[in-house]
Amino acid sequence: MSVSDLMQRLHAILGDAGMLTDAGRLAPYLVDHRDLVRGRAPAVLRPSSTEQVMAIMRLASAHRVGIVPQAGNTSYCAGATPDASGEQFVLSLERLDKVRAVDPLDAALSVDAGVILKHAQEAAEAAGLYLPLSLGSEGSCCIGGVIGTNAGGLSVLRYGMTRDLVLGLEVVLPDGTLVNDMKKLRKNNTGYDIRQNFIGAEGSLGIVTGAVLKLIPIPARRATAWVELAPGVPLADMLALVRRETSDLVSSFEFITARSLALVAGNDGRLKSGSGGVILVELSSSSRHLPIGDVLEGAMGEVVEAGWAEDVIIAQTEAQRAQMWRIRETIPEGEKHFGGSVKHDISVPLGSTVAFLARGGTLVAAYDPALELSVYGHVGDGNLHYNVLVPPGEDRLAFTDRIGRELAPALYDLAVGMGGTFSAEHGVGRLKRGLLQHYADPGRYRVLRGIKGLFDPLGVMNPGVMVDPSLGLPDCDLPVPPPIRRLL
Ligand code: MLT
Ligand code: ZN
Repeated sequence: MSVSDLMQRLHAILGDAGMLTDAGRLAPYLVDHRDLVRGRAPAVLRPSSTEQVMAIMRLASAHRVGIVPQAGNTSYCAGATPDASGEQFVLSLERLDKVRAVDPLDAALSVDAGVILKHAQEAAEAAGLYLPLSLGSEGSCCIGGVIGTNAGGLSVLRYGMTRDLVLGLEVVLPDGTLVNDMKKLRKNNTGYDIRQNFIGAEGSLGIVTGAVLKLIPIPARRATAWVELAPGVPLADMLALVRRETSDLVSSFEFITARSLALVAGNDGRLKSGSGGVILVELSSSSRHLPIGDVLEGAMGEVVEAGWAEDVIIAQTEAQRAQMWRIRETIPEGEKHFGGSVKHDISVPLGSTVAFLARGGTLVAAYDPALELSVYGHVGDGNLHYNVLVPPGEDRLAFTDRIGRELAPALYDLAVGMGGTFSAEHGVGRLKRGLLQHYADPGRYRVLRGIKGLFDPLGVMNPGVMVDPSLGLPDCDLPVPPPIRRLL
């Protein structure tokens, strides 16, 4: 089938509104969120129903055409950007944007995969419930992408990663088969948990078109403290104390260094860094009967007694609390405004965080003492965003490339050597697939490739993401996928 025949068949499925071919309109879909990778595509497909997704995938499999699913296009690892061949189609989920149902008794929310996370949160709140998934990009990222990347964010410590919040899933497989597992059950021991394969798969096994998400009572009572840290605080011990003394009501335990804080615009200076940085700690509860403010004060008193805090500011008003969070959440924007950063989304076991900070700092200083770090993150999850600021005057892409080759391997070796990982919450995508191959346990990597081959034997699903297609499939009974059709 020629390219124009294929485009006609796709147009017959999708109609005018469902297909973009104009170069100007394609452009935003062809570049990743961090402006690191630019791809090409003959068209962007915008299905408005699961049936249309099924029809697209049947066609794509029949003609061995690569399909790149894209939700909010906020991937940090270019997981939703087509390659430069111009042969992969982008499949945008943006028109699959309906909230299907909210069930207050089962505390479950059913949505299309293209629903923006913020809208899903609002739908839950309108029903008196709460979707406990909170990310800086929640105004633009979509449920499909959040599931595809198993997103983490600001309250993983209490409520878990996305994986922990998905009750049911609807997925279209590469051959167009529909897997309807949109159950809202907490208990369902009926064989393999197929859902889990698609969560964190970055669209490499199928296209998530719908999901049932777990809700909780609204944690309307919050108590928040800004802790100016003394130097060398054993952060894991501090977290353990705060969890214990608050009966585990901690929903966030975020770390901010002085350099990251200084990048944030509009901080009136009242919220300062201690010599060891800052911990932003928040307790939350849905109960009117728990004196959550007193509980936080008691725990903070013990933190001060232990000598871990130079000062503690407890938010007295919602405006003060919002200011604390605004500072934390706008650090990535501050980095961008500064001129960009090379991001390392590492995690280590909690007890190794302080050692990583010290040894990482030594590594960076030995490489180039003039480099500046912006380090912050979800330290309660052992997850640090260990970012190197692009020095003023340096070309961002050239610097990113150099750091990726010359410094990042040492930082990743350090994290992995401590029992950690090179990607905690931002995924693998195109940018880190080599790292996955390098660092994964060989047995695990073999299974991973086997799963890819099982679900996507023709290699049409998000080709090049997570697993390098040129590797073929592992030495097992699975068929080797034929090369993806050359379109142009
Ligand atoms: C965050 O924690 O703010 C997000 O993961 C984004 C980022 O690190 O840049
Ligand atoms: Zn983060």
